[in-house]
Amino acid sequence: MTQDELKQAVARAARDYVADRLPVGAILGVGTGSTANFFIDEIASIKDRLGGTIASSAATAKRLEGHGIRVLDLNDIEAIGIYVDGADEIDASMAMVKGGGGALTREKIVAAVAGTFVCICDATKRVKTMGGFPLPVEVIPMARAYVSRELTKLGGTPKLREGMVTDNGNLILDVHGLSITDPVGLEERINQIVGVVTNGLFAQRGADVLLLATADGVQTHVRPGR
Ligand code: 5RP
Repeated sequence: MTQDELKQAVARAARDYVADRLPVGAILGVGTGSTANFFIDEIASIKDRLGGTIASSAATAKRLEGHGIRVLDLNDIEAIGIYVDGADEIDASMAMVKGGGGALTREKIVAAVAGTFVCICDATKRVKTMGGFPLPVEVIPMARAYVSRELTKLGGTPKLREGMVTDNGNLILDVHGLSITDPVGLEERINQIVGVVTNGLFAQRGADVLLLATADGVQTHVRPGR
């Protein structure tokens, strides 16, 4: 199977998950990226069951609206039943690295509000130790050089993502060379650097459910203790 076929398969499985578990009229959070795009195309078929969606990026909002799916303002709603999004890496504790598409801050906000976070990805994203994928950090533009120096002290090599301005008007530093053995601690530590908006570690609030596309089918993993 090609990677796109795996993404398509997991997107279909996520649509079925939502159709089975999200009460009619409830709000769905929708992620960003190529896997999320397959998911958006799939949920066009169940749009009449949704009370509306919360988009994690301007690109996602545009794609949802292109299908005639209602996109709401997060400030106008109180709860998101399920949030479906991809990841760049996910470990056994269901902590993730996200932000390959630069939407990490809005994704983290949607994840914070969501009752259930469903991560959708193919098996290449499942890793023992995260850090192989450079960790995205969203920074206020005037703090770029200071934050870079602080991230270097933590053992990483930050590189400015050229040509990238986030939906929030900020920059992305991609931190190479980290071996993330304490995802919760590192997420907290990086977020304490003044000038950081947030970082792409989703460990304090990781995924609740992982739908993992493999050549043998889509596996469902539930976070231990949930
Ligand atoms: C965007 C993200 C994406 O979920 C992540 O980059 C995975 O993307 P893709 O499905 O294209 O591999 O965090 O900010």
